[in-house]
Amino acid sequence: MALPAFSPASPLEMRNAMGRFMTGVAIVSTGTPEDICGMTISSLTSISLDPAILMISLNHGSRTTDMVASTRRFTVSILNARQEAVARHFATRGGSRFESIEYDVGDYGLPMITNALVQAECSVVQDPHVGDHQVFFGQVENLRYRDGSGLVFNAGRFGDFHDFGHDEIPWWF
Ligand SMILES: Cc1cc2nc3c(=O)[nH]c(=O)nc-3n(C[C@H](O)[C@H](O)[C@H](O)COP(=O)(O)O)c2cc1C
Repeated sequence: MALPAFSPASPLEMRNAMGRFMTGVAIVSTGTPEDICGMTISSLTSISLDPAILMISLNHGSRTTDMVASTRRFTVSILNARQEAVARHFATRGGSRFESIEYDVGDYGLPMITNALVQAECSVVQDPHVGDHQVFFGQVENLRYRDGSGLVFNAGRFGDFHDFGHDEIPWWF
């Protein structure tokens, strides 16, 4: 099928187009001993292996954004394919996010989602404002992971990953 004509990158067109870039899904969380918060993200990227640096991009105006900016710490929990309900819960505005959720507490006292494929604790090393988001680069202080299938997100829908059964890609980068 022919591609349509180019159009300006309005917010809606950006969302429609870039939503076609399939991603995994994670919960970012942060807080203080009195108050914890978190939200669903797909903007997680592994930026550097040595030192270990992750990047997340959070909307201005979100409570989690302001709290990561002030606490300078966050955790990331990469969800497994059976955790769609958790992803939906942490993307819904209002209410107490951790009240009905099973979580583990890391060395820094911050929550990470139980049974996530990966749990990582990070401290912020840079946090530029870029457009309508604040981007946080976090040094990974410690992490743990397990085998399993990750939750994926594409064009507004959650799904599961099915591989072709081909040879694994060698880790050359
Ligand atoms: C699959 C998925 C991925 C998302 N990724 C991001 C993201 O990377 N950054 C972001 O700011 N919001 C992202 N969101 C939206 C937030 O999860 C949502 O706006 C949430 O309600 C924000 O938390 P708040 O209500 O505390 O502001 C995503 C939502 C979904 C469903």
